[in-house]
Amino acid sequence: MLDTMRRPLQDLRISVTDRCNFRCGYCMPKEIFNREYQFLARDQLLSFEEITRVARILVEKGVSKIRLTGGEPLLRAQLERLVEMLAFDDVDLTLTTNGSFLSRKAQVLADAGLTRVTVSLDSLDDDVFQAMNDVEFPVAGVLEGLEAASAAGLGPIKINAVVKRGVNDHTILEMARHFKNTSYILRFIEFMDVGHTNGWRLDDVVPAAEILATISAKLPCEPVEPNYTGEVARRYRFLDGTGEFGIISSVSQPFCGNCTRLRLSAEGVLYTCLFATDGSDIRAILREGASDEDLASFVDTIWKARTDRYSELRSSQTSGLDKVEMSYIGG
Ligand code: GTP
Ligand code: 5AD
Ligand code: SF4
Ligand code: SF4
Repeated sequence: MLDTMRRPLQDLRISVTDRCNFRCGYCMPKEIFNREYQFLARDQLLSFEEITRVARILVEKGVSKIRLTGGEPLLRAQLERLVEMLAFDDVDLTLTTNGSFLSRKAQVLADAGLTRVTVSLDSLDDDVFQAMNDVEFPVAGVLEGLEAASAAGLGPIKINAVVKRGVNDHTILEMARHFKNTSYILRFIEFMDVGHTNGWRLDDVVPAAEILATISAKLPCEPVEPNYTGEVARRYRFLDGTGEFGIISSVSQPFCGNCTRLRLSAEGVLYTCLFATDGSDIRAILREGASDEDLASFVDTIWKARTDRYSELRSSQTSGLDKVEMSYIGG
């Protein structure tokens, strides 16, 4: 199944909740995501059975990688039960988390069939990190989560750090040094204009070339071939010592040409782009009693009509669009 730009459907990213216990300013700024904010209600969420049914059909359509996201996916009660249900043969089943519940959850998730995890951590400097998560969550809590994930065999573990100019860019080198010579794969992500509430400005983006220059000035490195076509991170290997890191440059070097990702929101809306303004409600037809064939042809129609390449078209006009929030659609 190919879209209008001949891109196959390979990855499914499933958001299981739009809630999070952090308030990262680039994602869920406190002023917006406050007590008055209308999060999804329990009965709006897809059940684990509904999610699994959609996922199974998509796996039959070619999906070979499933990522659970949020908000913070570990806030969804009994997530390990969903993991068990989604542990299909030959499907890479992974999770993106802020790590705050990982020390408690890593082993049960691994036992349920999770293959690996990606953990967000924006800085090793406690003041900087706590200011960024805006709930005073300490670095040590995330490091404990990482250790637990590692002990549970949830590797290779990737670490995502969003870089914002003037906020954490002075801590890039310290992070690179810390995770060099370890099996953790640190990836720096350019701050993106996802959603419409994070106050994104181009001036706040530290371009990939600058991130690379900062690291390579002190820690010599060389590019490495991608692990697979369409990998979002550009990879680099340290020349002195072991280990690698990556840079995800959706702003300065877009990668839409190889984008094979479909996203399912917690309430059952399918989105063909992270920067979408609207999607297709599969929950409605699920709850009206659609057959597997109906669901398959619904997805077929959506994917075949897909034209998205937002990051290649980004401009001052597009960044102001009423895009869905990252906490709702998943990272
Ligand atoms: P693996 O290779 O399977 O480990 O995953 P990945 O490299 O795709 O990493 P992950 O899914 O964790 O994505 C990392 C980050 O890249 C996300 O948190 C987003 O910030 C960004 N990203 C992922 N997919 C897209 C996408 O389709 N478009 C854009 N613009 N950014 C993306
Ligand atoms: N720009 C770049 N990355 C973001 N993430 C969340 N919001 C943004 C943004 N505006 C990242 C998080 C996490 C993943 C889910 O997405 O840091 O690693
Ligand atoms: Fe929560 Fe992740 Fe968004 Fe931060 S980036 S507010 S941890 S969902
Ligand atoms: Fe895919 Fe949209 Fe991201 Fe481009 S901007 S890589 S089309 S999700």
